[in-house]
Amino acid sequence: MIIKSLELENFRNYKNLHLYFDEGTNILTGENAQGKTNILEAIYLCSTTKSHKGSKDSEIINFDSEESHLRSIIDKKNEELRIDIHLRKSKSKVIALNLEKLKKTSELIGILNVVLFSPEDLNIIKGGPSYRRSFIDMQICRLDSSYVFNLSNYNKIIDQRNKLLKDIYFQPALRETLFIWDSQLQSYGSQVIKKRREFVKELNDIVKEIHYKLTGQKEFLDIRYEPDTEEDKIEETLKENAEKDLKSKITSCGPHRDDFIININGMDARKYGSQGQQRTAALSLKLAEIEIVKRNTNDNPIFLLDDVLSELDSNRQNMLLESISNIQTIITCTGLDDFVNERFKIDRVFDVHNGIVEVVE
Ligand SMILES: Nc1ncnc2c1ncn2[C@@H]1O[C@H](COP(=O)(O)OP(=O)(O)OP(=O)(O)O)[C@@H](O)[C@H]1O
Ligand SMILES: [Mg+2]
Repeated sequence: MIIKSLELENFRNYKNLHLYFDEGTNILTGENAQGKTNILEAIYLCSTTKSHKGSKDSEIINFDSEESHLRSIIDKKNEELRIDIHLRKSKSKVIALNLEKLKKTSELIGILNVVLFSPEDLNIIKGGPSYRRSFIDMQICRLDSSYVFNLSNYNKIIDQRNKLLKDIYFQPALRETLFIWDSQLQSYGSQVIKKRREFVKELNDIVKEIHYKLTGQKEFLDIRYEPDTEEDKIEETLKENAEKDLKSKITSCGPHRDDFIININGMDARKYGSQGQQRTAALSLKLAEIEIVKRNTNDNPIFLLDDVLSELDSNRQNMLLESISNIQTIITCTGLDDFVNERFKIDRVFDVHNGIVEVVE
């Protein structure tokens, strides 16, 4: 799969931008704060409907504007697809695929597959459970639309149950209706847990091998899924914790509290890993992500690399380059330093300066 072009209107610091990418290696170069990451963010948004930085739509729209438009043309298994996204400051976004409006924005997930490696990814290893959940969820969502359905229903019901927990405080009679949500959480939640378990098994097989190679046969990486509640006991556990939930006005158990423990040589990388080990584990996960997309879709994802090259040693750089040798890649850097010049077959270079992008001939 390749992205052929990207058009941005009032997106971050871009008033108007129209870029054509090469199908090989593209480099975005420029000083700090010029708009390099913003371009990767726009592509990521066309893939996932969201910013990789967790920014709200209102923060992404140019400061001086009320709305923003993104358009990308992609080539997927020799079929040309057009994705249009319309962001609005106080309303929800609208997405169209081939000029047809999608009923749900989540229908876009899985159309354009990108793997982004950015400094934020260290959070998957270092951060709290929510970072690992969203990493795992995003991987499954793009491969399985029934997971998108089950997960979004589960999350919606959690929101409704939490709202009810607050309402019961003022209207105790509503207490009787709490159980209605619990059985629905059981049915959607158990599907979520089942799929997460299956996926972690597949991911584990792949990431283990990559990490072992990446560390010169020194480290075993292993991901252990730790569901907060067993899949057949969600409803039961919700009932057991009802009094506690009524006090805290928040649903305290279920798959929205799951975690995935990333162990290196048997020790939790979050707690005991060195900086370098954590960075390598993040890279292993990203390389595994590429492999999983390849296997499950019979197509290459597009690889976006934000600023992380210089932080890797030469062994890790080589492994990375091997893995991306025949896939479209878009890389940001502050200068075309030796590394980029020596190792990459560079196909197109863009100079990014204060929201204006020029192709370097
Ligand atoms: N909503 C917005 N409207 C206008 N400008 C914005 C908006 N959001 C961010 N910016 C601007 O975008 C610029 C940052 O862009 P970006 O993060 O892409 O920089 P970069 O080239 O990747 O820099 P670095 O090399 O430091 O990572 C900042 O100057 C910031 O002020
Ligand atoms: Mg940047």
